[in-house]
Amino acid sequence: MEDKVTTTEKSGDMEEKLSSVAKTLTPSPIQELSHLAQRCNAINLAEGFPDFPAPPHIKNAAVTAINSDFNQYRHVQGICDLLANIVKQMHGLDVDPLTDIAICCGQSEAFAAAMFAIIDQGDEVILFDPSFETYEVCITMAGGVPVYVALDPPHWTLDLDKLTKSFTVRTKAIVLNSPHNPTGKVFTKDELETIAEACRTRDCLAVTDEVYEHVTFDKEKHISIASLPGMQKQTIITSSLSKTFSVTGWRVGWAIAPACIASAIRNIHTKITDSAPAPFQEAALTALRSSPEYFELLRRDYEFKRDYVVKLLAGVGFKIKFKPQGSFFVFAELPEDCLLSDVEFVKELIKQAGVVAVPGSGFFHTKLPLDKLSEAGFGYQRRYIRFAFCKSNATLTSAAQKMGGLVDATGFLKLQ
Ligand SMILES: Cc1ncc(COP(=O)(O)O)c(C=O)c1O
Repeated sequence: MEDKVTTTEKSGDMEEKLSSVAKTLTPSPIQELSHLAQRCNAINLAEGFPDFPAPPHIKNAAVTAINSDFNQYRHVQGICDLLANIVKQMHGLDVDPLTDIAICCGQSEAFAAAMFAIIDQGDEVILFDPSFETYEVCITMAGGVPVYVALDPPHWTLDLDKLTKSFTVRTKAIVLNSPHNPTGKVFTKDELETIAEACRTRDCLAVTDEVYEHVTFDKEKHISIASLPGMQKQTIITSSLSKTFSVTGWRVGWAIAPACIASAIRNIHTKITDSAPAPFQEAALTALRSSPEYFELLRRDYEFKRDYVVKLLAGVGFKIKFKPQGSFFVFAELPEDCLLSDVEFVKELIKQAGVVAVPGSGFFHTKLPLDKLSEAGFGYQRRYIRFAFCKSNATLTSAAQKMGGLVDATGFLKLQ
């Protein structure tokens, strides 16, 4: 009789077996919206990956690598050699390609491995709010405690006082993503100096996410905090091919760090995934040798798309008080008279306009109920929508047409 346990009872029992971290990992409302968007065949301005083809010279290199039978576990040392040259040129860093670089499966794995490499139970890690969602999960899985410092809207300014107060004796690291997802902020030299000074005086590591390093606009230039005086020895840089070469599915990334940390990251990476995909590592050699014209064209194309989407959104009533300086997102504030929350707005945008974007609340981490959020001055956390513009011009034009079809006599997007 005992064998006849129902599936529900079994899965109930099995849930008991989940780790406490796994129990906290629930599907985000964003996934639900993704399903709704699929059902409505909505134009996708939600997800941060290009819908246009990857550059032919890179694709050809991958095809050649497969045909040349680079199809087994593999470490392509040439990637480290090229990266060492690149960070010397871009940031003036002296990196030993034999010891200071770990190739991983995308920035995502490099970041997770970095957290496992440096965090002990209860160590605190400072993050900016809003921030990209995956950092928190990695920190928590490694036993760390995320501590958020709010960036102040509308320009997502870093408040030195708030930053200083967030440090404690348990602070192990600070995570810095610039250019920043979701806001498009590029941290200024002064802000980086402030963060660097805090790291130096508190003997704290900086862990960077520089995946948008080549996507900056106007006069903005990406500066790695590792290039500031004394910081290379306490910085872990993470980045990848994903965004720069429009190959988010290839899963080739890296961590650059002082030798003992890079070695720990490499060991963790080897135990978990062994190696990044061999043919795509081979193709990375071609990607990383791309001409300066390639990077300039990438920047200019994205700048054009940014301007197009900013104009589109402002034209239908969004408040764009901060024009993205880098990355490929616009974090747009809902019109003043819009009574919908960010999640409600996106649901209606999908159903009525056939366009999907991401509600901003998923990027904020102030753990308060809605009514208390406003009282505490964080009401803005339900007022932003993230639009990704890493899409073909045809996709962006269709989105403009669909949204344009819903504007009222005053020229503003009207969703009921
Ligand atoms: C800020 C940021 N970091 C990292 C990633 C993921 O990078 P990868 O594909 O190299 O894992 C993304 C993807 O959206 C991102 O926006």
